[in-house]
Amino acid sequence: MNVETQKNLKPGEARCPGPSTRDIIIGDGANVPEVLVTESYEFLGDEDIPYDRYISEEFFQQEFDKLWPRVWQWACRVEHIPEVGDNYVYDVGPYSILIVRHGESAEDIKAYHNSCLHRGTQLKPSASAGNSPKLRCPFHGWEWNLDGTVSEIPCRWDFPKVTDEDFALPEVKVGLWGGFVFINMDADAMPLEDYLEVFPQHFAHWPLEERAIAVHVQKMLPANWKMVQEAFAEAYHVLETHSQALKTAGDANAQYDVFGERTSRFIHTVGTPSPHLDERPSEAEIVGLMRGGGDDVEVPEGETARSVVSDQLRQNLGETHSIDLSGWSPSELMDSIQYHLFPNTYMHAGVTLPLIYRFRPNGMDVHSAIFDILVLRPLKPGETAPDAPEPVMLGEEDSYTTVDGLDPGLAVVYDQDTRNLGMQQRGIRASMGKKGETLGNYQEIRIRRIHKTLDQYLNA
Ligand code: FES
Ligand SMILES: [Fe+2]
Repeated sequence: MNVETQKNLKPGEARCPGPSTRDIIIGDGANVPEVLVTESYEFLGDEDIPYDRYISEEFFQQEFDKLWPRVWQWACRVEHIPEVGDNYVYDVGPYSILIVRHGESAEDIKAYHNSCLHRGTQLKPSASAGNSPKLRCPFHGWEWNLDGTVSEIPCRWDFPKVTDEDFALPEVKVGLWGGFVFINMDADAMPLEDYLEVFPQHFAHWPLEERAIAVHVQKMLPANWKMVQEAFAEAYHVLETHSQALKTAGDANAQYDVFGERTSRFIHTVGTPSPHLDERPSEAEIVGLMRGGGDDVEVPEGETARSVVSDQLRQNLGETHSIDLSGWSPSELMDSIQYHLFPNTYMHAGVTLPLIYRFRPNGMDVHSAIFDILVLRPLKPGETAPDAPEPVMLGEEDSYTTVDGLDPGLAVVYDQDTRNLGMQQRGIRASMGKKGETLGNYQEIRIRRIHKTLDQYLNA
């Protein structure tokens, strides 16, 4: 689409000139899952998004009242609680949920509000994980069985009104998908399968339950949880923020899809240059850069940087993980194929970028967020996931380059992304005239979708 033809388009119809992501993926000539070449975009308006949504205490409180208690959110992975008696505490703002494995079978997982029915003490500390045969309050020793039934109440003669029936631990809904344990505090919530929209169908190609946590990094960031999340919703910022990637990754021609109220996707291609470059690098130069330098690369006639690099990845990653990647297309092996699940999660489809992101308010601070990254490696055939590793905790000033096991190139990218956030949060507060953010109709559509769905919860 050239600039002239774009003049007559309606808002949202314009696209970056040059080959689209879909053109590139089809151009690979490989068998690609149908879901990767489907497009789903709809113009959703172009009003500015009010800055208040990121800085107002009142808005933040509304999210705690109307959003967080009613959405499905993943709390942990199944491998965090493999043994009977294992427990894990998931916190979001004022809420604290205690997840417990109470039996051997895969389904035997329950979740409770982490609050004693005597005088409210947390049964397990925030952000803790452990194993115990009973759930015993550390204050006066009221105790429950793993299935939530009353086990023991010291001096029960003093509590004639306490019945086993009324004092079973109130349950929080649990759903399992993709190796994740989801919770929902709303007893009337829709089933998780419905909430997930396209996830089950699309991820059938890339089963996340057949993966295990290789690395878990958690970083505190000085910005609202939505602002942090939105920094990962688009590739528009690559030009300015990650300019080192311009020769080896598409950006302005990334594809954005919104599948429903709660799910969206971007695909940005790797092994192709940015449309911003005036001069296209040679295929050999792209391969050289992707291998970390060296100009002695030759790309055989009829091959492309994407075919050469994906062949290599297919072999190397296949050997590393002892899995057969012969059926995987270049796109699945190389591209950033990233799905969003409302309200706070991204899941990547590929094996090169096997990443899960989650964003939460940090306690009750509207200007602070917790950003979790999980690197999920594929399980070897017949392997069960080992126990989940402890998260590596990073403070605001700490660099991702200090994290063992995180790809060094990716660590630099995360440092670049997260450096912007404090400046954006402070800049929004400093804005005197302009009261909202102005979004691109196409490249920033996922951000607008998140806010529209958030409104549906807040106005319900
Ligand atoms: S507050 Fe839990 S036993 Fe008293
Ligand atoms: Fe980025």
